[in-house]
Amino acid sequence: VSIASHPVAPFRFEPRLPGDKSITHRAYLFAGMAAGESAIANTNPGEDCAATAAALRALGVETRGGADGSVTVIGRGGAFPAPAGPLDLGNSGTGLRLLLGVLAGQAMTVTLTGDDSLRTRPVERVLEPLRLMGARAEAPGDHPPVTLTGGALHGIRWTLPVPSAQVKSALLLAGIQAEGTTEIEGGGASRDHTERFLAAGGYPVTGTGDRIAVEGPFRIEPFSMVVPADPSAAAFWCAAAAVAPGSEISLEGVSVNPSRTAGFTALEEMGAELSRARPVDDVEPRADLSVRAGTLRGITLGPDRVPGLIDELPVLAVVAAFAEGATVVRGAGELKVKETDRLRAVAEGLRAIGAGVELRDDGWEITGSGGDPLPGGRVRSFGDHRIAMAFLIAGLRCRNGVEIVDPPGIETSDPYFLSNLRQILEPNA
Ligand code: S3P
Repeated sequence: VSIASHPVAPFRFEPRLPGDKSITHRAYLFAGMAAGESAIANTNPGEDCAATAAALRALGVETRGGADGSVTVIGRGGAFPAPAGPLDLGNSGTGLRLLLGVLAGQAMTVTLTGDDSLRTRPVERVLEPLRLMGARAEAPGDHPPVTLTGGALHGIRWTLPVPSAQVKSALLLAGIQAEGTTEIEGGGASRDHTERFLAAGGYPVTGTGDRIAVEGPFRIEPFSMVVPADPSAAAFWCAAAAVAPGSEISLEGVSVNPSRTAGFTALEEMGAELSRARPVDDVEPRADLSVRAGTLRGITLGPDRVPGLIDELPVLAVVAAFAEGATVVRGAGELKVKETDRLRAVAEGLRAIGAGVELRDDGWEITGSGGDPLPGGRVRSFGDHRIAMAFLIAGLRCRNGVEIVDPPGIETSDPYFLSNLRQILEPNA
């Protein structure tokens, strides 16, 4: 099967969105650590979060799925029995790295692994500080499978070499179980869901963002929460409205956590018209959004903003290809170690659809079409869900459309994406 998209008449559409992937992973893990029953509403239904839930079940946690993404998790109260075999996190870097933090505090030896893509992704960034906290860990070649022997941990002071929310969160999850203070610096503008959850629950956490400290050990209490819709999934539809003149997208209950809205801000700076309504001020705030195209212009995105829109960069690059003038992205070298080398995959894809792009070591320089359609063509996703989704959106503004020649499992992050796209492509079907 191939998946493809093509230009369409202006549309008004309200796509169905999955719950946020990052928040769902964290909610599952916190609930798994709690003693008793937690209720999580609007969980992300994709394969990545399902892999985290499956790993928790292998660790003796009970999960029960209800209607509409509501999941009940019955946690083990901080001590897990040894799993029968290796834990397979599939395609999920977040699931694997966060789970390393949880299991670093458990007195047992566990192997964590994943699919072909995950088995190429760096893990030393998490293992190095976890070893200093008292865990033993091996990952030959700096990628899974990881063999981890957890146990008694003590707090450390650690400066993140890359502003990664995954590493920051793994250390916080270990810090909860450690004696003394775990202090983490250098998180920059990365997402703050872990520290937000802890602060809202009244746990001993201080600071957010670039400097956070947690005072362990303590027990997580069962909780209930609503997961907002995923802003990184929403970004594809915002981009669709931005590149298809005369179209409008409405989105309900999207996360407007300030550490996740930099992608929306960038689209606004590029000329898309966004409006927010019905804000709900919760631990994880949400609001309705609507987006319409404006005249698109190129922008410059530097290293300080990259952590806040790391997952949105592929689709922002696609929008840039249709803008007036140049878009320059710098400081995005981390994209090379995502599900695939996204710097290269985006550059190849943009060239394939006839856009002007220079690939740099840490970003791109993209020359926009000035609002005109591009020719389009056949694009390789390299098995990466976000690359495929970004270029399927590009196809809405390409004369000959876009075909993804190696369709990946888009279900990893958003099982609703393809049916939403189909409704835009075939409104009368
Ligand atoms: C995530 C953090 C980001 C992001 C990933 C989800 C998270 O990775 O790309 O999709 O949930 O913490 P890094 O923290 O490695 O940049």
